[in-house]
Amino acid sequence: KQPVIIDTDPGIDDAFAIVPALFNEKLDVQLISTVPGNVNVDLTTENALSLLQFLDVDIPVAKGAENPLIVELEDASYYHGETGLGGYEFPPLTRKEIDKNGIQAMAETILSNEHDTTILALGPLTNIALLLHTFPEVKDHIEQIIIMGGSLTHGNTTSIAEFNIYSDPHAAEMVFESGLNMTMIGLNVTYDAIIYTSQIEKIQKMGEMGEMLTSILSYYRSGTFESGLRMHDSCTLAYLEDPSIFRTEKMKVKVLTDDYGRGATVINLDESSSESNMNVAVGINVERFQEWMVDSLQQAADR
Ligand code: BDR
Ligand code: CA
Repeated sequence: KQPVIIDTDPGIDDAFAIVPALFNEKLDVQLISTVPGNVNVDLTTENALSLLQFLDVDIPVAKGAENPLIVELEDASYYHGETGLGGYEFPPLTRKEIDKNGIQAMAETILSNEHDTTILALGPLTNIALLLHTFPEVKDHIEQIIIMGGSLTHGNTTSIAEFNIYSDPHAAEMVFESGLNMTMIGLNVTYDAIIYTSQIEKIQKMGEMGEMLTSILSYYRSGTFESGLRMHDSCTLAYLEDPSIFRTEKMKVKVLTDDYGRGATVINLDESSSESNMNVAVGINVERFQEWMVDSLQQAADR
């Protein structure tokens, strides 16, 4: 089984990556590390714990950084609700995060694995930057980092910047320059990773889990069931499971950190592809993505 760490800020679309990952037979999700992003890190941690408790899955959750490296957090509670998972009322939490900092927990998990670990990055890159900086020895043991973030076209937080990269541009820059095997799945493809009423109705029929997921979706301000809802973060898992759903190209991508360009991901066309630092998603097969989303949740429901 492929060892996986999910670094996340749940987050409604984060839940739609976490849940199917947990029940994927080929993956061994060993740790969920939480990062401030959609809401603060106390809430993203509670949300991760609530999801696991609801699903009765027992894997460690470790709370990561309190704040972005340099800039102040500007959360996305407008899109995800004040708590980060809409207004859904989970049963009272009886679980707690582990008594270890998320960055250290990530390092220990990676170093204790016989096989190289894959990281799904579903939020700002604060924890991953701190991990690579503080424990550089992990670099030789990371299979790949699949990042939901950035864009080759428009932004969603400013006209040029996507939320995860905008939220901690300095961390993103460190990760993008790390030389690791990375794939960037940005808004230029996740804008099309949409599920509509026809998929949502199928999800709703998936028992208690389906009811919970549909209920949190109803709070997601990225659209309506009819206009469709964007499953940004799910794309990282879809890519891990079946890269052929996406078309990728190797590119040299830089992150801008100055005030004017904050969080923009820029392609340097002057540099040859031999200097590329990223595998960048440039296309998505929307129909196959939608099928994958429903099938992978069905697998989770049937476990
Ligand atoms: C990203 O921002 C967050 O609001 C989502 O969870 C996703 O990770 C999309 O820009
Ligand atoms: Ca997210």
